[in-house]
Parts: sequence; C-alpha cells; structure tokens
Amino acid sequence: MIQDQYIGKQRFQLVSEAKRRRYHQSPSNAKVIDWAISEIKKYVEQGPVLDLACGNGRHTKDLVSGSPMVCAGDISFAMLKAAREHLGDDKAIRALRLDAENLPYPDGAFEVTFSARFFHHLPEPVRARILGEIFRVSKNAALVTMKKRGSFEHIRTIAKYILKGKPFQYQRFFCTVGEFDRVARSHGWMVKKAVSPFPILSANCAVLFEPINRSC
Ligand SMILES: C[S@@+](CC[C@H](N)C(=O)[O-])C[C@H]1O[C@@H](n2cnc3c(N)ncnc32)[C@H](O)[C@@H]1O
Repeated sequence: MIQDQYIGKQRFQLVSEAKRRRYHQSPSNAKVIDWAISEIKKYVEQGPVLDLACGNGRHTKDLVSGSPMVCAGDISFAMLKAAREHLGDDKAIRALRLDAENLPYPDGAFEVTFSARFFHHLPEPVRARILGEIFRVSKNAALVTMKKRGSFEHIRTIAKYILKGKPFQYQRFFCTVGEFDRVARSHGWMVKKAVSPFPILSANCAVLFEPINRSC
C-alpha cells in the first residue's frame, strides 16, 4: 500500500539534501521550466505568484521579473535556508515555511501558482490533495511539472529496481496528464496545455491549468 507520507517530505528536511541540490538542470527539465516561466508571464499582470515547494529557490528569481511579489514556500527549513542564501535580500521575494497540503492563504490569494519538480515525489492521494490546494489559492492559472508514464525514463526507473533486486521504493511517481485533468475538473479547473520536449526519452512534462470558466 502506498503510504500517505512520501519520501520527499522527510528527505528534503536534511541539510545535506539542501546542499546537494544543484542550481543547474538537465536539458529537458530546462526546456520544461523555460516554457512554464514564459507562460506564467502571460498571466501575472499585477498579482503575486506562489513558488510552491521552492527548494533552494533556483527558479524563484525568474518569476520575480514578471510579478511584483513572489512567495517562495517550502516545508524544509534546510531548503529555505539555502533559498534565502541564493536569493539574497530581494524585497519582492518572501521565503516562508509552509505545508502544501494545507496552504496558509485565503482563496484566490495568488494570480498564478508555480510548482517545479515536486509532483513526482507525491503518491496519488497526496497529489490530488495538493492540486486542490493550488486551485483554491490561485486565481488565473497554475503551472506544475510532473513525470509522465511510459517514457524511456519511466521504464529505466522500473528496470533499476528490478535489476538491483530491491523492493520497490516509491521515490518517483509517474502519472498521466489525464489524471491531472480529472482532479482539476473536480475543482472547476482544467488542463489547458501540457508540454513535454522529449516525450519518448524523458518523462519531464509541464502542465498549465486554468479555471474552466476562464478557458471557455
Ligand atoms: C525536488 S525539490 C524541488 C525544488 C524546486 N522546486 C526545484 O525545482 O528545484 C522538492 C521540494 O518539495 C519540498 N516539499 C516536500 N513536501 C512538501 C510539502 N508538503 N509542502 C511544501 N514543500 C514540500 C521539499 O522540501 C523540496 O524542497
């Protein structure tokens, strides 16, 4: 049975994990993030942006250039410390500790919510819960990255467990855009667009959501 507590929730609490995180990224992840950030800039207008599960803040600065204010939130003090060091003293950025499963913001507090490299750490029930929180606090759009089922990267991950003879440890959860769309529709949102730059090789994908009444 998949437990409700996912590995990423504890692992990133560690200082060593915060230090290990890199500021550079793979070509497919970089393409996904570039697309997501360019989309976000179309929605920002005058409102604040939430960088959810911001980690060491490697994407937060890119969001500031389109928005007057960015809240960078993460559950891990160690990751937030690394983010504060990386981001410096920028008045447009607030870095704070929060739990994505229960966001401390009123409905519609942000124009857009962005969340990179977070959803593939989440088992299905937690994914749906956190997506629900994102839709609740966002007004115009939400952009998240995920890992799609069926790519070479997905098959390689399964093969690694089999070849090492290890019990399957859920560190990465691969899912489908259809699943995201079903959850979104149950909250009055929908998937507007999904982009995966190297769909056969890499599982990386960015998903843009909008409220259904805005998309019609
Ligand atoms: C792989 S890192 C991604 C960081 C960053 N978005 C990036 O792209 O580099 C995943 C992050 O999710 C955070 N996290 C895990 N569970 C969380 C939760 N329930 N609420 C907020 N952050 C959480 C971890 O602390 C970690 O920093």
